[in-house]
Amino acid sequence: MTKLLEVFDLKKHFPIRAGLLGGVTAKVHAVDGVSFDVAKGETVSLVGESGCGKSTVGRAILRLFAPTAGQVHIDGNRIDDLSPAELRPLRRRIQVVFQDPFSSLNPRMRVRDIIGEPILNFSLSSSGSDLEDQVATLMDKVRLPRDAMNRFPHEFSGGQRQRIGIARALAPGADLIICDEAVSALDVSVKAQIVNLLSDLQDELGLALLFISHDLAIVEHLTHRVAVMYLGKIVEFTDRRTLFSMAHHPYTAALLSAVPVPDPDAPRNRIILTGDVPSPIDPPSGCRFHTRCPFVFDRCRIEEPPLRIVGPAHVSACHLEHAPGEVIAHAA
Ligand SMILES: Nc1ncnc2c1ncn2[C@@H]1O[C@H](COP(=O)(O)OP(=O)(O)OP(=O)(O)O)[C@@H](O)[C@H]1O
Ligand SMILES: [Mg+2]
Repeated sequence: MTKLLEVFDLKKHFPIRAGLLGGVTAKVHAVDGVSFDVAKGETVSLVGESGCGKSTVGRAILRLFAPTAGQVHIDGNRIDDLSPAELRPLRRRIQVVFQDPFSSLNPRMRVRDIIGEPILNFSLSSSGSDLEDQVATLMDKVRLPRDAMNRFPHEFSGGQRQRIGIARALAPGADLIICDEAVSALDVSVKAQIVNLLSDLQDELGLALLFISHDLAIVEHLTHRVAVMYLGKIVEFTDRRTLFSMAHHPYTAALLSAVPVPDPDAPRNRIILTGDVPSPIDPPSGCRFHTRCPFVFDRCRIEEPPLRIVGPAHVSACHLEHAPGEVIAHAA
């Protein structure tokens, strides 16, 4: 598969200053050496608890700020060091849908202008009627009635507003959409509708999706591969089926233990996480997960485990030889 997006050893450290003019007293290690790629037409999910750096990865790719270190490539070309003018034509190709469409859609603009704006910004229409046709086609694509064009965002439900946000992301002809918690605030049934819409659009348009979510249950229905993040790092990365059936990292196993299942009485090797996520200002030594890991041993406190191959197209950053499920089963 052709790689569309490649991220190499991305870091983003936010300085913390003492007072307005004070010097830097500490740094938030929000993203601390993250590498992954997304192929054309593929969905890759970034999952992990709140504060692990998922949105920061998305924002650095979108160049909402410059990364501290690392590289971002599109179609094999480096983009993280481009000037704003050089970046402009590429912005069209990478779009974003945020969690809260209410705050990301201008409340004073009609839907036709919200969706039409990126088409105008990138000079993609030849006339007023062409613009109107393009907006109408986009409304069809996201399954909103065309006559909704003249209404304002507040006249729509949360799910419909998210459809408007998706139409707006599609408008400039994006080939990668970063969905940052795009369905997290929606009711369960609406969530499923938007997830289905995204996967239909992916089939129809060959879109690549970087799907950011703290909820593993939702990514199971649409993702091809999953990267699990913990405190600014990817701790496990593999395809969906392997992740959901043979997770290797204890943190992934713990996240999976929290996913609701149809039969809660069925036997499962559950790992319940205790304690809070440590501060990214001063991450733990060795393995960052060692303070919460039920399988911790001495080496974990000292030596940071690198991502290593634990199966076909499966990497995990853990010193354990065997997956947690096997360890638990053996001990029982
Ligand atoms: N502009 C900023 N300045 C300082 N710290 C920041 C900034 N943006 C994010 N952070 C910190 O970086 C860390 C990662 O934040 P990020 O928003 O990327 O996490 P997340 O995984 O998206 O979390 P959530 O699931 O809550 O959206 C957090 O500790 C956050 O407080
Ligand atoms: Mg976030």
